[in-house]
Amino acid sequence: MGNIVDEVITKAKTEIGKIMSKKPEQLTPSQIVAELDKYVIGQKAAKKSVAIALRNRWRRQNVEGEIREEIMPNNIIMIGPTGVGKTEIARRLSKLANAPFVKVEASKFTEVGYVGRDVESMIRELVDLSVNIVKTDKMQYVQKKAEENADERILDILLPPVKSKSNGAKSAASSSGIKESSENLINMDNSTNADDEYENNKKTREKLKDQLKAGKLDERQIELDLTSDNSPMMQVLGPIGLDDMGINIQDLFGNMMPKKTKKRKMTIGEARKVITQEEANKLIDMDSVVKEALEKTMDSGIVFIDEIDKVAGGQSKNQAGGPDVSREGVQRDLLPIVEGSTVNTKYGPVKTDHILFIASGAFHTSKPSDLIPELQGRFPIRVELDSLGEDDFYRILTQPENALIKQYKALVETEGIDIEFDDDAIKEVAKVAADVNEKVENIGARRLHTILSTLLEDILFDIPDKIRDSKLKIDRELVESRLSTIVKDRDLSRYIL
Ligand SMILES: Nc1ncnc2c1ncn2[C@@H]1O[C@H](COP(=O)(O)OP(=O)(O)O)[C@@H](O)[C@H]1O
Ligand SMILES: [Mg+2]
Repeated sequence: MGNIVDEVITKAKTEIGKIMSKKPEQLTPSQIVAELDKYVIGQKAAKKSVAIALRNRWRRQNVEGEIREEIMPNNIIMIGPTGVGKTEIARRLSKLANAPFVKVEASKFTEVGYVGRDVESMIRELVDLSVNIVKTDKMQYVQKKAEENADERILDILLPPVKSKSNGAKSAASSSGIKESSENLINMDNSTNADDEYENNKKTREKLKDQLKAGKLDERQIELDLTSDNSPMMQVLGPIGLDDMGINIQDLFGNMMPKKTKKRKMTIGEARKVITQEEANKLIDMDSVVKEALEKTMDSGIVFIDEIDKVAGGQSKNQAGGPDVSREGVQRDLLPIVEGSTVNTKYGPVKTDHILFIASGAFHTSKPSDLIPELQGRFPIRVELDSLGEDDFYRILTQPENALIKQYKALVETEGIDIEFDDDAIKEVAKVAADVNEKVENIGARRLHTILSTLLEDILFDIPDKIRDSKLKIDRELVESRLSTIVKDRDLSRYIL
């Protein structure tokens, strides 16, 4: 009975899971903005653009007929100073869409030793991520079965099963019909011992199984055979870069080499995890994972190209560490990928036509119009992000679900201490951040990290040795006393904040 109920519940959960995992892609633009609002303060225009872009890909997927292939993604350039939420918006967006997301720095491609091929590596990375997402997703559905299989395998090691002779005879007899009863009698007489042994083994096994499931055996050591994924051959070949060229070494050599198993000693607790993983891998159909992952990459992958301004033309040749030729070269290399081309990966070819590209840059010394025209054309949407001030900082410190103050509270709470920030204190932190940004260098909301960690350094060091109170209060005076000398001294601020 219990089992059936369990099964029904698991099935229901699976169904709900499927529905839930589909839902994010169908968020309406205003719902997307509302989700982003939970993490990013302000930046309305940017949120609006990315919301439209995301919804448009879902719309495109529902378009019938040939025109569907013609619809291009709404690639975006986000323009704004550092630390105002450009990366954060893109990252949150990809989470919402449950989409594979990679972030590359365009300037990286101007570095010495760069070869054109490297630009394609971002697509390979995207596919790798996608395979992981899809695989992890499928793992959930086979998890329970994998756990059961793993426990059985461990039981086999702990207590090898005994075959019952009579059982074997029984089934043979029943298939031959009439003789059943007489055969059974004979067997029962001859095999009492074997039967006892079988019954005992079965009982002990049940007991062990209960203990195993309850985690009572987790500390014990066990030795087991594991199939290793990495044969030595592949490890030798790996770094040479076949993989980088999208050639699957496993395909080349996998079938030629015997599957290797390795003996390993570990605790049962560990073994249960490792074997569950191995069993789950067996239960998953990798072909369908790869197929789905490739589709996911092509239809919903997001590539975030940071520091695009560093490869734009404009003045100062030395800024990006290379001559203009190299910067334009990077743009030329990026172009086919953004325009839509086919990149070979170890999982198969990936068409980049419908991948969403979000570029970002400060564009202090150059403008988007300094990019080569072809590339400009592929980023039809430009959106500016506002630089952040004192009020924004106050909200960033307190409102987002992952707000810094909340993070520190959670950290300190693990030591049994409740840390309370006065509203005035938070306002003071925000003010100091805006001050230092103005006087020293504007690094946006990143400033809050350095200021808070400076502010709390001593407290975090003295917990739990010296500070054992169950409540701590951070008030304005404390903020002032800890930060004021640093803030007043420009050089000190430069180094410390
Ligand atoms: N508008 C914002 N709202 C909330 N947090 C922000 C905002 N802007 C920046 N941050 C925080 O500041 C840090 C840097 O932001 P990031 O998005 O990486 O900046 P950039 O614009 O340079 O890409 C992150 O921890 C991010 O959460
Ligand atoms: Mg960034």
